[in-house]
Amino acid sequence: MAGVFASTIRPAIMAASRRPGLRRAAEGLPVTRRVVHRFVPGETVDSALDSVAALRSSGRLVSVDYLGEDVTDPADADAAVRVYLDLIGHFARFDGGTPVRPLEVSLKLSALGQSMGRDGEKVARENAHAICEAAQRAGVWVTVDAEDHTTTDSTLAIVGDLRADFPWLGVALQAYLRRTLADCEEFAAAGARIRLCKGAYDEPAAVAHREPGAVTQAYLRCLRVLMAGSGYPMVASHDPAIVEAVPALARESGRSVADFEYQMLYGIRDLEQRRLAEAGNQVRVYVPFGTQWYGYFMRRLAERPANLTFFLRALAQRGH
Ligand code: FDA
Repeated sequence: MAGVFASTIRPAIMAASRRPGLRRAAEGLPVTRRVVHRFVPGETVDSALDSVAALRSSGRLVSVDYLGEDVTDPADADAAVRVYLDLIGHFARFDGGTPVRPLEVSLKLSALGQSMGRDGEKVARENAHAICEAAQRAGVWVTVDAEDHTTTDSTLAIVGDLRADFPWLGVALQAYLRRTLADCEEFAAAGARIRLCKGAYDEPAAVAHREPGAVTQAYLRCLRVLMAGSGYPMVASHDPAIVEAVPALARESGRSVADFEYQMLYGIRDLEQRRLAEAGNQVRVYVPFGTQWYGYFMRRLAERPANLTFFLRALAQRGH
């Protein structure tokens, strides 16, 4: 089943996620909104702040993402920056902390203008710089998300530039990409904060491992490099095979529980998040919010048969 899902169903869902007609249809269905709520707590800054408060009170760290990607209008990129500045302003009401900052924002450079033609990279760099400046003043971390492989060089170049001013800036690396082991070696040697995830896009075999077992093995190889390096690894996975491998890898490289963190997405394995936090680990929850939830939601459906089944069951029961 896992093989069929990865080879056939996943690419079909990812293709559907690029069709604007389907997007409009899905967004219009009340049932979609109800299911989306499981993964996206709300559309407003206030709803994100409510989730932050609840997660903080259960001892978890948070990273908040304002949903949006592939922005082509500079006004939309400016609007995204304003939302991040507003959000960071509100974070002052929560407790700060050093050296691990309990509050973080995650951002996609394509939401800040990266995909806007010739000047896109420059615009995204400047927008991300403004957000990092505000975050630095507020004692908040920033981590840059990883998007499809055609953006990786540009994203890592922008992050490299920004790290000169903000050495605490983190970036997500996708273990399914064949290049990522080398990227991990470079960033681990530079002492960077790296969020290691498997990768959520439908990438060609020329650039990415596509078989689930191969992706998990690649993830563990990358994680060993990050743990052995001088940076701060962020283990972004819900996979028990990965979560269970972490204590031994940390021990091997002399790291205590304060020297790395687990990360999971809002609404996924909540009990496991609580269990890890209660056992004394640092656990950060990625909380997406906003109206542009379609792409994020489709990637969650494409990730796991059970998520898709949950959605299809809700669709079948609508009207009951
Ligand atoms: P995967 O989905 O492969 O699941 C493996 C196993 O985990 C399952 O077989 C099951 O046993 C268990 N499991 C998973 N979900 C479960 C559930 N709900 N209940 C019980 N068991 C469950 N991607 C990207 O391309 N760019 C990015 O920037 C990011 N950012 C990011 C941040 C954070 C904090 C996280 C956690 C993830 C991302 N991702 C991402 C997404 C990531 O690339 C990946 O698609 C998902 O995390 C799914 O991969 P997993 O490693 O979680 O395991």
